[in-house]
Amino acid sequence: MDNTFAQDVIKGLTSKDKYLPSKYFYDDNGSRIFQEIMQMPEYYPTNSEFEILSLQAKQIIDKLEFSEPFNIIELGAGDGFKTFKLLEYLVSKEIDFTYMPIDISKEANKILEARLKQRLPKLSIKPKTGDYFEVLKKIGKKNTPNLLLFLGGNIGNYPKDQAINLLKILNGNMNRGDKLLIGMDLRKNPITIHNAYYDSNGITKRFNINLLIRINRELNADFKVDDFDFYSYYNPENGKVKSYLVSLKAQTVDFKQIGKTINFNQNELIWTELSKKYNSSEIETMAKLTNFKVNHNFMDCKHYFTDSLWEKK
Ligand code: TRP
Repeated sequence: MDNTFAQDVIKGLTSKDKYLPSKYFYDDNGSRIFQEIMQMPEYYPTNSEFEILSLQAKQIIDKLEFSEPFNIIELGAGDGFKTFKLLEYLVSKEIDFTYMPIDISKEANKILEARLKQRLPKLSIKPKTGDYFEVLKKIGKKNTPNLLLFLGGNIGNYPKDQAINLLKILNGNMNRGDKLLIGMDLRKNPITIHNAYYDSNGITKRFNINLLIRINRELNADFKVDDFDFYSYYNPENGKVKSYLVSLKAQTVDFKQIGKTINFNQNELIWTELSKKYNSSEIETMAKLTNFKVNHNFMDCKHYFTDSLWEKK
């Protein structure tokens, strides 16, 4: 049994306000359901960012103003789908750079490397396996200029103090003049955001319920998944989407191996995800607080999403 997973789950479910860490959504089934979310017409972030990287690769690279060969270090490349357009542009222009995707999974890195080598034979790629920050510590401080990629709007899933902490750590492992391209979802018509996170076909519900199924399977618990529902809402006053599982009745859940029983009241919530939407002054503030300067916001044509280019001061 995965010990940290068990500890994190029990810690979250025994808190006064129950929660589950969202990183645990992504087991094999969860990753598959997330692919479905990304294909929903309502879920705009993926398409918006893809548009930015497809149509503005040249503008992004011009803004780097690197005069020598550089590294592109990506935190969380996933299947490399988004980054591909940027890499394709660079290779087609014969620009001298090395792509270093960082992932904790050696397997994921191998698959990514094989796919990219096939599609871009001339790409120089050096995947790094390990924890983001450990790897960054080793490669960030060398003399080669670096562009860090933190795409997908992941930063919005961290509470503010953690987001700032993470950005400070990134900054601390960069050299002056290095750049960070960070994906951030923007504030927009609240209905558009609501629909992206509370879809009428229940795909997002399935994604959240899958976390309970995972806990049942891996931690030997007995969540009755039909007795839980999903709820999500966007607060346009603070830009936060919050997602929850809802206990539909008073019930208990047993964790047999751990010897714990968790009680739920009727309508009690388990908070599963924060997804923060930013405006431009919040982006400026975040950059300033973490010792970066905002060079440019690359936005899609609807201005739904930004890949914000920051420079280490
Ligand atoms: N973390 C992603 C996001 O904020 C994934 C996600 C999409 C998600 N819809 C969700 C997470 C609903 C929890 C609930 O966009």
